[in-house]
Amino acid sequence: MSDTPVSAADAVATPSRATRILEASSLSKTYRRGPENVRAVADVSLSVDAGEIVALVGPSGSGKTTLLSVLAGWEHADAGEISWTGHPMADPGTLGWGDMAIVPQTLGLVEELSVRENVELPLRLGDTIDWGEARVETLLDELGLTRLAERLPAEISLGEQQRTALARALVHSPSVLMADEPTGHQDVEWTRGVLRVIEDAAADGIACLIATHHLALVRYAHRVLRIEDGRLAAVAPEEVVAAGDEL
Ligand SMILES: Nc1ncnc2c1ncn2[C@@H]1O[C@H](COP(=O)(O)OP(=O)(O)OP(=O)(O)O)[C@@H](O)[C@H]1O
Ligand SMILES: [Mg+2]
Repeated sequence: MSDTPVSAADAVATPSRATRILEASSLSKTYRRGPENVRAVADVSLSVDAGEIVALVGPSGSGKTTLLSVLAGWEHADAGEISWTGHPMADPGTLGWGDMAIVPQTLGLVEELSVRENVELPLRLGDTIDWGEARVETLLDELGLTRLAERLPAEISLGEQQRTALARALVHSPSVLMADEPTGHQDVEWTRGVLRVIEDAAADGIACLIATHHLALVRYAHRVLRIEDGRLAAVAPEEVVAAGDEL
């Protein structure tokens, strides 16, 4: 555990002996467009432990994607600190797929590569394809992609593309999975399928931070963080479920 002060976001705490994988304190990010300032992330502190599923909920435009981008190092925070497994993030570019994997809201598949090649990509970049081949096949199967494996992203549905991005994120068994609305394009059955895969990932010790508008995912979460106008607060999952479609 670090000496960072406990924030409101940590109010619903996980067991103290848990291994803290990701910790962020006092993060802020403002987008500037000419005279207009949008404070997308405002003084956010949070942590995610190994094996934990943390749901990040909040209205459209509340800052979920921006927060994930800042945590991933894709956007620079104006203020605040991020540390991964106790090491301050000096250079986000040094994080590999084995440290942190993300399912972006925009998916980010490589259009020229087949479904299988997209899923294999983190292994090929790390030169660990031999080691991971069985895992590729397992994820393709669990996410209903085996018969589509040789197609290009443009030749499969958006839901199937989203599941491909999830398989790619998990193929390297990262320390942290960050997924931005991973059930956003799924039907009821595949929402369950995606949740099963995320639950298995957490059971394997992966720390999961999942932005979502889906109550089904909130029910699976160990903790729920709600963001509104860039500000974060911990809420009880029952509270969010009771609020129903206000996600
Ligand atoms: N590149 C950008 N430049 C300026 N403003 C931006 C930029 N990206 C996001 N914003 C603004 O920052 C705020 C937070 O956006 P963000 O995409 O993080 O919301 P979100 O919670 O992910 O929404 P959704 O649920 O619709 O995905 C919004 O007001 C948005 O318009
Ligand atoms: Mg978003």
